[in-house]
Amino acid sequence: MTQAVGLDWLLCTALPTGLVGRPHFVTVKTAVELYLPILVPVKKELVIMNKINKVAFSMVAICIAIQFVPYGRNHINPPIVHEPTWTNKKTRDLAKQVCFNCHSNETVWPWYSKIAPISWLVFSDVTEARQKLNFSDWTYGKRDGENSNKIRRDIETGEMPPIQYRLAHPEAKLDDSGRRALADGLEVTVKDSIKP
Ligand code: HEC
Repeated sequence: MTQAVGLDWLLCTALPTGLVGRPHFVTVKTAVELYLPILVPVKKELVIMNKINKVAFSMVAICIAIQFVPYGRNHINPPIVHEPTWTNKKTRDLAKQVCFNCHSNETVWPWYSKIAPISWLVFSDVTEARQKLNFSDWTYGKRDGENSNKIRRDIETGEMPPIQYRLAHPEAKLDDSGRRALADGLEVTVKDSIKP
């Protein structure tokens, strides 16, 4: 397969070898031997980059497309109907600091709660949380969560506020004495606010 090649081949194969300008004939065999080890990995790399680009492009396209899903964008806070009879202001302040974003109609919606898919998670959490226990719409024991034992259990076991919320909201991390103060305060508040 050894054969002489023309000027084009000579120029393009000789360029990187520093042979331009010197009369030098390169054979196809030499050219293959010279460039194959370089070109094969380069081609593989290009194929991989191409795949990565395609995946990245699809992900960006999906992220843009899901912003048009209407679910999770209703951030209207319903009016405050009825609060429980708070034992003291400190208990309400603590509950507001740690629980109100989900369990009241005074939700402060952060900027990322407008971006899907986080908006879906935040919206479904707040909707479900309000159904179970809503400090702005107290129903005197009708809702599952209007129960001092459950409230104490959830605060003491660290189930409430949920871990993902605590990570995003440093103010919701209470130390032992804070948790005890909140559980004790809510226990009296809830007991005083349940119809016999
Ligand atoms: C990130 C939102 C969020 C925050 C903040 C939050 N909760 Fe909840 N809570 C929920 C959700 C969602 C549910 C319903 C699902 C469940 O029971 O896990 C719930 C349910 C509950 C229930 C009912 C549990 C049952 O067994 O019926 C209680 C009681 C409760 N939460 C107490 C609290 C208290 C007290 C705080 C503050 C210390 C708090 N939560 C903070 C989201 C939240």
